[in-house]
Amino acid sequence: MGHSRLLLLFSALHCSISAVTVIPLTLNIPKPYESDAAPVTSDSDLLSKLHTGSNLSTEPMFSTYTWEHNNKIPLNGTYASQDSFVRGAIDASAKHQHLVIQPQDVWLTVLKQLSFYLRKHKDDKEVAENWDNREGKATPSHSGLFLRDLARYTRDQFNLRSKADWMLEWARPGFTTISQHPYYMIQNSTEELMANALLMSSPYPSTEDMPAFPCKNGFPSITLNGTQSDWKAILEKISSLEKFGKEPKLYGRLLHAVVSRFVQTFDNPNDPATRLFWNNMITITARQNLCSSTELITGWINAFHMWTPAGNLAITAAVTTASEAVQLDGITFPWRHAKDTPIANSHVPMCVDGDSPISASSPILVGMLAKSVKQGKPEGYEAAMKLAGFTLPSTVAESDHSILQPLPIWIAHYNATGNCCTPDMERTGRC
Ligand SMILES: *[C@@H]1O[C@H](CO)[C@@H](O)[C@H](O)[C@H]1NC(C)=O
Ligand SMILES: *[C@@H]1O[C@H](CO)[C@@H](O)[C@H](O)[C@H]1NC(C)=O
Ligand SMILES: *[C@@H]1O[C@H](CO)[C@@H](O)[C@H](O)[C@H]1NC(C)=O
Ligand SMILES: *[C@@H]1O[C@H](CO)[C@@H](O)[C@H](O)[C@H]1NC(C)=O
Ligand SMILES: *[C@@H]1O[C@H](CO)[C@@H](O)[C@H](O)[C@H]1NC(C)=O
Repeated sequence: MGHSRLLLLFSALHCSISAVTVIPLTLNIPKPYESDAAPVTSDSDLLSKLHTGSNLSTEPMFSTYTWEHNNKIPLNGTYASQDSFVRGAIDASAKHQHLVIQPQDVWLTVLKQLSFYLRKHKDDKEVAENWDNREGKATPSHSGLFLRDLARYTRDQFNLRSKADWMLEWARPGFTTISQHPYYMIQNSTEELMANALLMSSPYPSTEDMPAFPCKNGFPSITLNGTQSDWKAILEKISSLEKFGKEPKLYGRLLHAVVSRFVQTFDNPNDPATRLFWNNMITITARQNLCSSTELITGWINAFHMWTPAGNLAITAAVTTASEAVQLDGITFPWRHAKDTPIANSHVPMCVDGDSPISASSPILVGMLAKSVKQGKPEGYEAAMKLAGFTLPSTVAESDHSILQPLPIWIAHYNATGNCCTPDMERTGRC
């Protein structure tokens, strides 16, 4: 008690709360998490679940889990999920889960989307000035394949493509939520690696079933982890999207309307307008109440999907009347059927010169590729419920609460069909 009061005082003094929890304007009763999918059992299992429908290898070389968790995936609560910031949020709303999101989840989602655009528009003046997306051929140093080598590899590759000084720092997440490994800057390197890799990735076809989506959906709570400055940093980053052309500029406008409200949430999470905004993340309230159509995503989450993997505009649905669409800052947001949410696996080619004469083609699969579901409620939930004046029915058990959180993941894996040749091997005539 005394301890937590002291902590509260401490954070108030420093004016930088490190997370905020908001209760949507509608009371949504938490429910135990149920899923037809089984949690993943290893990084190779995760890879095979993500590679459904493709001929790619399910044999991982190294992954997020190699360094951060001694190869151990938390077995009872990690599920494969592509594009898990968006799809995880849809799942959490459908199943009445508490949702926790971090700034890097949002930023990596945006970078992946932008990569689709950059590939298609490589010859546009605004893109070519900043980014030349040719296929690189560098290789990590022979000395070993440690995280720092992979991080250096993706950074070198990024620098080969980047034509503008600002881009490396801009892509780097750099949020306070990226906690440091006690001995190495492993988390920092991991997030940097992912940001760099995502922007230069190529999309490969993939599939994923969307879970059943009921009309009556909604989050019991949403927690934004990180400080307000972390979320403000995203706002600054998205203001640079316009440098890549007209469509990225429009993307930036849609995102600004949304992310500026994430930032405002820290000022007063109990403000009714803010809470209404969070109500409308997946389905707009009015529409939800009509409950005439399922599988229709009407909320502002659609703003995060601007392009299809081929780089075409994904925003096509015509909006009929204002009452049926989200409107923020004078922008009418699009609708989308859940089945039409863009999907692709993003890979960066990598060729590893091993000890043996043969080399291994080891593309890095990268993105928001999993979600964690843990029993419990977010730290700020009780206090936020009190502020909102809500009480849960006594029939709700403690064990009915669980928290869904999207997870950024990268996996370097073997490419069974790929032979490759590093510049060094070419030079020494080994291939
Ligand atoms: C996988 O391989 C089979 C047989 O070689 C081929 O018919 C199929 O088109 C391939 N699928 C993909 C997604 O490349
Ligand atoms: C929230 O961010 C902090 C770092 O600021 C981190 O230690 C913590 O694990 C994060 N919480 C969640 C639920 O991700
Ligand atoms: C993370 O990496 C960047 C770039 O290498 C570096 O500038 C920054 O200081 C690192 N952050 C931390 C907290 O070590
Ligand atoms: C997962 O397992 C850990 C350790 O066995 C346990 O503490 C935790 O409560 C479990 N979580 C769930 C959601 O079952
Ligand atoms: C695997 O190798 C084949 C043949 O070299 C190549 O066409 C394909 O793009 C590679 N896949 C990935 C994900 O790198």
